[in-house]
Amino acid sequence: MRLDIKVTKKQKRFIDARENEVLFGGAAGGGKSYGQIVDALLFALKYPGSKQLILRRTFSELDKSLIRTSLSMYPKEIYTFNSSTHTGRFKNGSCIDFGYCANENDVYQYQSAEYDCIRFDELTHFTEMQYVYLISRVRGANAFPKQIKSSTNPGGVGHSWVKSRFVDPSPSGESFIGEGEMSRVFLPSLLKDNDFLNKRDPNYRLRLEALPEREKKALLYGDWNIFEGQYFTEFSTSKHVCEPFEIPASWRKYRTIDYGLDRLAVLWIAVAPDGRVYVYREYCESALPISAAAKAISERTPIGEDIYATLAPPDLFSRTQESGKTKALIFQEFGVTFTKTSNDRECGWLAIKELLCDTGRGVRLQIFKNCTEIIKCLPALNIDRIRPTDCANEPHEITHAPDALRGFAIFHTRPNDSTASTKRSRWTRDMWEDYYTADEGGKKYLKQKYGEPQ
Ligand SMILES: Nc1ncnc2c1ncn2[C@@H]1O[C@H](COP(=O)(O)OP(=O)(O)OP(=O)(O)O)[C@@H](O)[C@H]1O
Ligand SMILES: [Mg+2]
Repeated sequence: MRLDIKVTKKQKRFIDARENEVLFGGAAGGGKSYGQIVDALLFALKYPGSKQLILRRTFSELDKSLIRTSLSMYPKEIYTFNSSTHTGRFKNGSCIDFGYCANENDVYQYQSAEYDCIRFDELTHFTEMQYVYLISRVRGANAFPKQIKSSTNPGGVGHSWVKSRFVDPSPSGESFIGEGEMSRVFLPSLLKDNDFLNKRDPNYRLRLEALPEREKKALLYGDWNIFEGQYFTEFSTSKHVCEPFEIPASWRKYRTIDYGLDRLAVLWIAVAPDGRVYVYREYCESALPISAAAKAISERTPIGEDIYATLAPPDLFSRTQESGKTKALIFQEFGVTFTKTSNDRECGWLAIKELLCDTGRGVRLQIFKNCTEIIKCLPALNIDRIRPTDCANEPHEITHAPDALRGFAIFHTRPNDSTASTKRSRWTRDMWEDYYTADEGGKKYLKQKYGEPQ
């Protein structure tokens, strides 16, 4: 028997993936669900006697999509479907259960089940508890591979946990090891990857273009960086993340740092002759004393790589009480000399926004895809509750790499007044917090003391 099925390149990559947990995620219409159905068929045929479970959150979704597609694709000579138990059986002894899990407690219907492969379609419709429970049902005393293969669009109740489980830890397409020694990979799927749909229904894209911005980002671009309260809404993996390449020796290069004992963040940035800015290397590590931080910065800069300036925020230039020396001076004693940038947070964030925005001639900021911390943290920054023009300082661990980028952005876009601007007396966060929580009398007093809020 010959199967007449064609797959897209991305579907083939999904079918070939051997990691324990695979996520095929992205734009609507990229061919994810179809890819699941083809993959399930190939798995069933390759491993006679194997058991698979395909899940959607609700039965009606399952019925309308996956069951229908499988019935139209799977050859009738070898496959029968029992519509009361929702089980498909192959002549070779393999079977596929089509299941759903509308409520958290529905997972217990699979309590004593065993599967070689579980497939979640629209994974972000499931909660993390459902996923973690159900994947414990992947087991069996046979030699078949044991896998959990999921497909989804961004958005939905499970957006955050799915993003942090699959999308954030590693550049897309690159396998990594997650908790419990399970290998994982995230494979993005875009509408442009699905020629079958693009040819058959060229207007589909236009219909997605007409969606509101947030839905458009998720469904047309398959972008995972969407949430309420996001500061850098302009950030888009497809626009701002690029494949690494050899930076020409002639481009001006910077290092920019944020340093505290809690975390050191260093970004290496090159400026191309066309004005585009490339973050081409990063290093982030916790609990490094200055000597170790300086050593790490130097060691990660290859000999012969000409760094024009190493940028650091003004607080590293203030004297510490204990030694009377500035941190910048101690860094210098260990071989790393800084140029002071500005601590004007608002101007710094705006400078990043300028680099991110698309002026019609493309965006100016590009980040090499191996710089995973800045790629994860920049879009995760929240708008500050009290000063909406500022980024929130919580969760603190995501602020370091963006702070380093901010130092560069303000220096690069406003080199002349970057140090001067630090001299202006602006209200600090603490002053703002006091002001917002004070009563009228307190507000008046604070204004007298510090001048008009700015
Ligand atoms: N290899 C293929 N051969 C023929 N048709 C295909 C193929 N892959 C996808 N399609 C068709 O393209 C359309 C979109 O595919 P599919 O439903 O799998 O996308 P999806 O990524 O799951 O979309 P959504 O995000 O909306 O669930 C469907 O009509 C499907 O039948
Ligand atoms: Mg689908």
